Amino acid sequence: MGKIFYKTEEEIELIRESSLLVGKTLAEVAKIIKPGVTTLDLDKIAEEFIRDNNAIPGFLGMYDFPNTLCTSLNAAVVHGIPNNKPLKDGDIISVDCGVLKNGFYGDVAYTFEVGEVKEEVKKLLQVTKECLNRAIEVAIAGNRIGDIGFAVQNYAEENGYGVVRELVGHGLGKDLHEAPEVPNYGRRGTGLMLKEGMVIAIEPMINMGVRNVIQDKDGWTIVTKDGKPSAHFEHDVVVRKGKADVLSSHKFIEEVLNNKN
Ligand code: CO
Repeated sequence: MGKIFYKTEEEIELIRESSLLVGKTLAEVAKIIKPGVTTLDLDKIAEEFIRDNNAIPGFLGMYDFPNTLCTSLNAAVVHGIPNNKPLKDGDIISVDCGVLKNGFYGDVAYTFEVGEVKEEVKKLLQVTKECLNRAIEVAIAGNRIGDIGFAVQNYAEENGYGVVRELVGHGLGKDLHEAPEVPNYGRRGTGLMLKEGMVIAIEPMINMGVRNVIQDKDGWTIVTKDGKPSAHFEHDVVVRKGKADVLSSHKFIEEVLNNKN
């Protein structure tokens, strides 16, 4: 990968604005998720909301991706393309979204439950979210990229889950995907040194079964090899001394979800 662009405080605030807009967009998506709704319905809501907020959908047209959201259902890990099939009770749907505003990207993902989901699937979502939190805790200046990967891998594997290796987190800024790569596996104390001003998207992709994935025949969707469910949560953070500054937020989404229950 290329050069790492360390961000100024002004740039960090612009990335924060973009990242928060993605969280708010996913909250709009959260409002309408239920059995019977299609992923194209979600996509339409998201695109309108982003444009109403003077931003551009970040994924639309990127590498020729056809939509605003990546919507990955059940065994789909990432890069699912929205379609007109209705969501069903018991599904899980990972929604990944990016925006471009003021020249900077935000990139956030969240896995939603549709209706009533099995306990074992709820646990997969909780553990994946906790993997992300543990990764953020070690994303501090002086640590290394391997500390982030270790935090994710260790907790996921302790719970008997598989960690996807083919897809990784990444630097973020004027480009959606910048250096460095941020794998969800690794060894403590290895890899690139984390430094203040590095902005990275951390995004564990955790499978209930084996870690292996395959590409679907649509040419986009990545699915688990064993057909078991997969979850994906993502935050954008800036590396600081002592504690990472999380630029994105799942708070807007979770307010909606708490009001639904
Ligand atoms: Co990302």
